[in-house]
Amino acid sequence: MAAFRLCMLLVWATVTVAAAQVRATPDKPSDTLDKAFHQQRREQLRKQLPSRSVAVFFASPIRNRANDVDFYYHPDPDFYYLTGYKEPNAVLVLFSEPQSIAGKQASEVLFVQPNDPQYELWNGARLGVEGAAEATGITTQPNTNFASFKLDTANLQHILFKELPHDVRNSANDEADLYSLLEQFKVKAKVPASFDAQRNRLYKLVREQGAAQPEEIKSYIGQMSRYIPSLRQDKYLNDYVNAADARSRIKAVAAIPKSKLDAYTLAQTLASLREAKTEQELQLLRKAISISAQGQIEVMKAMRPDMSEMELQGLHEFVHKKYGAQHVGYPSIVGAGNNACVLHYIESKKPQVSNELVLMDVGAEYKGYTADVTRTIPANGKFTREQKEIYELVYKAQEAAFAACKVGNDFQAPHRAAAEVITAGLQKLGIIKDKSEVQRYFPHGTSHYLGLDVHDAGTYGPFQHNTVITVEPGIYIPEGSPCDKKWWGIGVRIEDDILITNKGWENLSKLAPRTVADIEKTMAQPSALDDFKLPALN
Ligand code: GLY
Ligand code: MN
Ligand code: MN
Repeated sequence: MAAFRLCMLLVWATVTVAAAQVRATPDKPSDTLDKAFHQQRREQLRKQLPSRSVAVFFASPIRNRANDVDFYYHPDPDFYYLTGYKEPNAVLVLFSEPQSIAGKQASEVLFVQPNDPQYELWNGARLGVEGAAEATGITTQPNTNFASFKLDTANLQHILFKELPHDVRNSANDEADLYSLLEQFKVKAKVPASFDAQRNRLYKLVREQGAAQPEEIKSYIGQMSRYIPSLRQDKYLNDYVNAADARSRIKAVAAIPKSKLDAYTLAQTLASLREAKTEQELQLLRKAISISAQGQIEVMKAMRPDMSEMELQGLHEFVHKKYGAQHVGYPSIVGAGNNACVLHYIESKKPQVSNELVLMDVGAEYKGYTADVTRTIPANGKFTREQKEIYELVYKAQEAAFAACKVGNDFQAPHRAAAEVITAGLQKLGIIKDKSEVQRYFPHGTSHYLGLDVHDAGTYGPFQHNTVITVEPGIYIPEGSPCDKKWWGIGVRIEDDILITNKGWENLSKLAPRTVADIEKTMAQPSALDDFKLPALN
């Protein structure tokens, strides 16, 4: 008995040590972005800055859920990309050339939240000023110093920033919350109260390209004015658009007010930097995507007609968390039957998926990088004839779109390929008569970039080496559609995450079964959840 106890103690002790070791193991450098990554990204950005310029980035706002409860904080992807810093109320100031900052020559400074024991007791540790310097390798100052930080506007030729948010909460008694930091910036950069980022962008376009490309620029002004009515009253833009001949157009271009303020270029530059991924980023994306694909497999095995949409959503997200993915990259979309026809259906409110097709668009976010994977499967494990017809048409469209994923192809090439297949297929099935009707059943685009954001930043120009995009054709036939009733309530999207390189394309989500045969085979497999039964509650 004593020997047995000792033995148990030893086992227990070993387990405890092992657990402590597991907990104490820091992230492997290959499994998280390191200082050098962010530093390189800042170097790349600096190379693209015009001389005598400053780029100013703000952390994203804290969003309030209700009363004293906020939503989980999501760092601004550009800010994170450039710094690795994930806390709110921060400013990154990056100069094209070194300046004297706090008595030293430096070309960047990061203003961060200082430590605050009372705050940290409730909400968890902050890096603090020294911790942030250590973690980022950037010279840091407390954000309370930003108010007195001087911007030498006389010597700067360009003050670059992204459109400033207008809906930021002003917390009482905090002189360095984002609201205050933005107000302080507007004073030091001389941003007038009437400043409008869209107008600023159009003025810049007209000044730079208005004389050479009048038709393109005029059409762009027309488009923007449809969305932003105040632009229609702008005297300078109107003079330019209404110029009767080349001479008066040149005069109108010269009259456009000049400004050092530029709320446009930085977003473009960051989009072009973030579009092509580094190897480290690809590693994280691969992981996020494999986690999501494994989630799809587990749910395929576990799905039963008496399950609810919410339960299925929970199973996906449980698998993600089991693999260490903290969040989903967007609210999960799990919709059965007619709900699958609502593109961004996030309610998950159907109590039983019954014998319908279930569309599951779920993406794990791993270390900031998000997957975006959709599978559509029959709740009872077998596609009906009509479900299969539509599914295989979407599958064929997706295959055609994959083939268009080539470096140098224009961004719309996969969409054109998919739309062509779907149009012909819907005509053949008698669901549409004319090509022009295809948008009713395939109302969205086929691709977007993927990375730190689900709809990631990018230029939408020709595909570059190491770009990751989604390929996600779909057909949605809600009840009441003007076609045979047998198609009603069928919504299918198949979405995979595709890496485009100089060697071709790779399906990063191929782990998730995609053919009708593979889906049915996977769904017939037992699931560990078959025996997971909870007692009924009153
Ligand atoms: N999950 C949103 C999308 O597919 O774009
Ligand atoms: Mn997508
Ligand atoms: Mn999606």
